[in-house]
Amino acid sequence: MIRLNNYTFSYPEAQSFLWKPLNYCFEAGQIVVINGGNGSGKTTLLNSLCGIIPTAIKGKVKGEIFYLDKKISSQPLNRTASEINILFQDPDKQIFMPVVEEEIAFGPENIHLPRETIIKRIDQLLARFNIEHLRYKKTSDLSFGQKKMVALAGILSMSPKVILIDEFCAGMHEKAINLVADYVQELKHAGKLIIFAEHHHSFQALADIQLDLDNFVQS
Ligand SMILES: Nc1ncnc2c1ncn2[C@@H]1O[C@H](COP(=O)(O)OP(=O)(O)OP(=O)(O)O)[C@@H](O)[C@H]1O
Ligand SMILES: [Mg+2]
Repeated sequence: MIRLNNYTFSYPEAQSFLWKPLNYCFEAGQIVVINGGNGSGKTTLLNSLCGIIPTAIKGKVKGEIFYLDKKISSQPLNRTASEINILFQDPDKQIFMPVVEEEIAFGPENIHLPRETIIKRIDQLLARFNIEHLRYKKTSDLSFGQKKMVALAGILSMSPKVILIDEFCAGMHEKAINLVADYVQELKHAGKLIIFAEHHHSFQALADIQLDLDNFVQS
């Protein structure tokens, strides 16, 4: 489903490429966990997998990343977003609608899904994440953990085929972590590809594939 073919990246002012070339294949129905210390490039790799790099964040690319045999870098971001969606490390960079319900509706409205489908998805996700009480709350009034759950609901509402999650566990309660771990296993069984970047090794037990970027960092 996603194939990295000798892929590596370098930010414009950097001296060298971040990693030795990466060669990996990730398939539908898999959970992938990307490990690595601070600065090993977990976020950079997720941004590459959804096309933000090099479309919005520029740099030097070597090799290629393919999604269903098409180069991700040559597709417009709005087309990629309905298939491959990313939960950012910082929810404040993700959430931009004033009310929770509007935030979750934003993605599916953008791809013109029918109103009933959108409402059904919002109902299901709010119930599933135990955040029904937040539905009409202002997003600016939410705690960090609540923002993360709302942002996650916001990307899942588009029903993407590939779900990228950057550092979910940091700053989250165990209850929320367990809830998401359970849900992710359902998504896996529904044929989604889920890729976590985790500094902590909390989702490791779920992983079909583990990629430790510390092993690829260029010295
Ligand atoms: N926009 C940018 N411009 C230049 N350099 C960057 C940029 N973003 C990240 N870097 C550098 O690239 C390297 C990888 O950063 P990245 O954020 O991908 O790592 P990470 O593994 O996600 O780290 P963390 O665990 O802190 O989230 C670091 O050395 C970082 O300083
Ligand atoms: Mg990061």
